[in-house]
Amino acid sequence: MTIFIVHKRTSISGLILLVFSFFQCICIDAQNLPLSWEKKASGVWIVKAGEPDSINFLSVSGVNPKLEAINAMTDVCFPMQETDIKVLKFDGKVYLQFPLDEGEKIYGLGLNFKTIQQRGRILRLHVDHYGGSDNGRTQAPVPFYVSSKGYGVFINSARYLDVWVGTAVRKDSKVPMNSRDRNLDKQWSANPYSDNISVLVPAEGVEIIVFGGPSMLDAVSRFNLYNGGGCLPPKWGLGFWQRTPTLYNDSMVMAEVKNFKEHHFPLSVIGLEPGWQSKSYPCTYEWDKDRFPNPAKFVSQLNEMGVKTNLWINPYISPESEIIKKLLPYTASHTVWSGYVPDYGLPETNQIIGDQMKKDLLSIGVNGLKMDENDGYDNWLWPDVTLFPSKIPAEQMRQLYGVMMQKMTTKLYHEQNKRTYGLVRSSNAGGTSFPYVIYNDYYSHRDFITALINSSFIGVLWTPEVRSSKSAEEWLRRMQTVCFSPLAMLNAWSDGTKPWSFTEVEKQVTEVVNLRMQLIPYLYTCFAEYAFYGRPPIRAMNLVDGFTTVDKIEDGKLNSTENPYAEATKKEMKDQFMVGDNLLIAPLFTGETKREVILPKGRWYDFYTGKLVGEGQVIEVSQGLDHIPVFVRDGGIIPMAANSEIKGKQNLVIRYYGQKLSVYKLYDDDGETYNYEKGEYSWRTVQVKKDAKGVLVGSISIVEKDKPNSFDKISFEFMTK
Ligand code: GAL
Repeated sequence: MTIFIVHKRTSISGLILLVFSFFQCICIDAQNLPLSWEKKASGVWIVKAGEPDSINFLSVSGVNPKLEAINAMTDVCFPMQETDIKVLKFDGKVYLQFPLDEGEKIYGLGLNFKTIQQRGRILRLHVDHYGGSDNGRTQAPVPFYVSSKGYGVFINSARYLDVWVGTAVRKDSKVPMNSRDRNLDKQWSANPYSDNISVLVPAEGVEIIVFGGPSMLDAVSRFNLYNGGGCLPPKWGLGFWQRTPTLYNDSMVMAEVKNFKEHHFPLSVIGLEPGWQSKSYPCTYEWDKDRFPNPAKFVSQLNEMGVKTNLWINPYISPESEIIKKLLPYTASHTVWSGYVPDYGLPETNQIIGDQMKKDLLSIGVNGLKMDENDGYDNWLWPDVTLFPSKIPAEQMRQLYGVMMQKMTTKLYHEQNKRTYGLVRSSNAGGTSFPYVIYNDYYSHRDFITALINSSFIGVLWTPEVRSSKSAEEWLRRMQTVCFSPLAMLNAWSDGTKPWSFTEVEKQVTEVVNLRMQLIPYLYTCFAEYAFYGRPPIRAMNLVDGFTTVDKIEDGKLNSTENPYAEATKKEMKDQFMVGDNLLIAPLFTGETKREVILPKGRWYDFYTGKLVGEGQVIEVSQGLDHIPVFVRDGGIIPMAANSEIKGKQNLVIRYYGQKLSVYKLYDDDGETYNYEKGEYSWRTVQVKKDAKGVLVGSISIVEKDKPNSFDKISFEFMTK
């Protein structure tokens, strides 16, 4: 169909132009695709326009949307004018247009490291190793955005998507064009106002899914649930992880584990790097017989010591591996690092590699994998001219490869009814329910925290892993932040650092890692909320109830003396975040002795002392090296293990902060298997009330019959005196 786009003008000069341009109609052979939205669940609408690719994030991940959990959320109306969403087809591609209001802010669109708000940016969403600028090339370029107006939009296309986030200006915009004279007009702007988000999808069609709110957190939760819900790691996954240098052999690893014991330092997982394999880069996925003559004994000894094993792999298979003969027909036309590239789009590939993993790894008790280098760095991935026998184009393979590897390995563990938790260097939409955490080689501490915050908008997990540091101070600050992330890990693959390498801060590092271990009951409940209700365990401040951003305030009042809160929240919140509902973390970075912390509305208390620190305001904290600043909301209940051991039944100390009476649900299950999927779990009600004398008392509901119970003695600690 041919459509005519007519200039629209609203000013007088515009009207003249309109008449003039009437004779100048632009004739474009573009097809305006009709959109008929289908309501999938409460607050979730889907539309297919044109002929979408058969391969997309949800079809490949194969996860089932958690519709029941979504339907349990309050129903809401379609969050914008349906007619304001437009899809055109032209030149074999689809052009999408979504409305943007004045003042509306946009978050998400991939794992960004420097920015939180995306309005005003132009991105090409493309899996890659993050290269230092937020241009869309990142480890998880998830095509989902969430708006400050409380809704989200997901473009379920595994193509390289170009996104103009409030930069494209249409001549038929409802907002009058305002051209200014740059020579004389100080108000002239290089970035004229744009009222839309435009997306170019290089495919014949597209599937779009809109998620309602009413809050941003609701929209994100619906998105996460639609992607299968968040993952629930085994409890041991939330402990402390150490990765050993590449060429460590079995006795060196054992010595390392003993070293941890001698230092009274908790250790849950030991990670072996490429050297566990007979050959790597390209990989054999077989143990090296010299360095690990008896892998079964080695892994079981570690297990007896309470330490789980995680093994590094990358995707590229060595011509000398046992599996290659069988696998060769199912590999791509091109190689990477002289290794064959398995085509995970084929069931045979999953079978052959899965069988090898079962034989050499799972059968002897290996607990998980670190799946490296499926993200690019361009030279280290296949080029887009590569052909895959499954006929999935290389572009889509690139967008999906990390998700495919996660799916295959998650399934292997699921079949054994054993939960795994591991690392992956690329992910995307569809990966939310897979138990993997993203990491990379980029190493800016600040940017790592910004990525942690951004991960919460897009249904992925990120770890700001610690590797090395220039000073004891930096070491400690990094250790402190990694302990408040989804995976607390020291990755010493290259230089062999230990948590105690900087002796000046050994005491503080030990303390924060022990704190992490004690927080596992709280963290585990945060993850259960992710799995059951889609609420991310780490949360950007913008997702927090009571955290309002104020941009517009009476003239002259927006400054740090008159209205510091408004002034502070105008900025992007790139360096403070929440863990679950109750903990607010405000990291300090090297060289800092004090910082501003923005407290959302309601009273907030110091985690360590229980003292009131403020209420809906900006405070300045000057914490010494000993602690990372952590705050708890009024009525905050924090269940903590009495000690750092994960094994057996634990004594639980339930901390309570402030004065507000509150109720909290503590999640519990066996911590290791998938039996929770069959109903073997409990949400115990923890309550703090006042007794007849006005004294605070805590209670916890009993464990229902036949439900798991990880706790022995339970006591309450009222932190605010
Ligand atoms: C890198 C990875 C590192 C380490 C190394 C081993 O790609 O990011 O963490 O595993 O490979 O060669």
